[in-house]
Amino acid sequence: MQIFADTADLKELQTWLDYGVIDGVTTNPSILLASGVYELRQGAVEIAKLLGEKPLSVEVVTDDRAEMVKQGVEMASWAPNIVIKIPIITTQGEPCLGVMAKLVGSGVKVNATACMSFNQAMLAAKAGATYVSLFAGRMSDEGADSSEVVRNTANWLKTWGMSSKVIVGSIRETINVQEAALAGAHVVTVPPKFLRQMIDHKYSRFTVAQFLADGQSAAERMGALGLSVGRNGGSAKKAPSVRAK
Ligand code: E4P
Repeated sequence: MQIFADTADLKELQTWLDYGVIDGVTTNPSILLASGVYELRQGAVEIAKLLGEKPLSVEVVTDDRAEMVKQGVEMASWAPNIVIKIPIITTQGEPCLGVMAKLVGSGVKVNATACMSFNQAMLAAKAGATYVSLFAGRMSDEGADSSEVVRNTANWLKTWGMSSKVIVGSIRETINVQEAALAGAHVVTVPPKFLRQMIDHKYSRFTVAQFLADGQSAAERMGALGLSVGRNGGSAKKAPSVRAK
């Protein structure tokens, strides 16, 4: 399974790339706006460069389907790793499947975004989308069992040998990442604040501090006995006390 960062924050992105756990990035106009990115091309190119060959999803900014195709072709030319996010329908409920099919036909990778159901995801996959984005949090807001939708979609894609990958987005709580992963998502796209919560645990901090303190006590005793404690052992520095989250 892959983990994408759902962010346009370059500093956060670099940090998590350096940790070696990020396989790509998703953005949308709201995420870009929140990070102060107003000039879409410049912002997208900057993120795309940081990513190297890893994919970056950038969304078209129009409700007109013919214009979506034009914007998609243009945006895809900004960097080789850009994937074009096309909404599953317009604000008026018109299908954007034709837009996806056209872009895919011209060699552009498509991320079918704002999918809230199995049926939408299935049609987007049929239209050739590389990625189908299921918005777990928004589905749950409406009372749907998002894990069930993710599981059914991933199983259906596998059963029929479809190449589309399920991205689970709209993460609202850290547990949603685990739910999506266990439901069979190919990708979970996670805002950095949840990545930080995923790694931290107060009992891990306590355990690390306990072992460090005991290791230091042992080194001090060995030092007092005149025994060698190794090159780095025997530091007089006290182990830090445990800080709750
Ligand atoms: C995913 O590609 C979207 O950018 C994102 O996860 C949407 O999340 P939201 O429901 O918090 O806006």
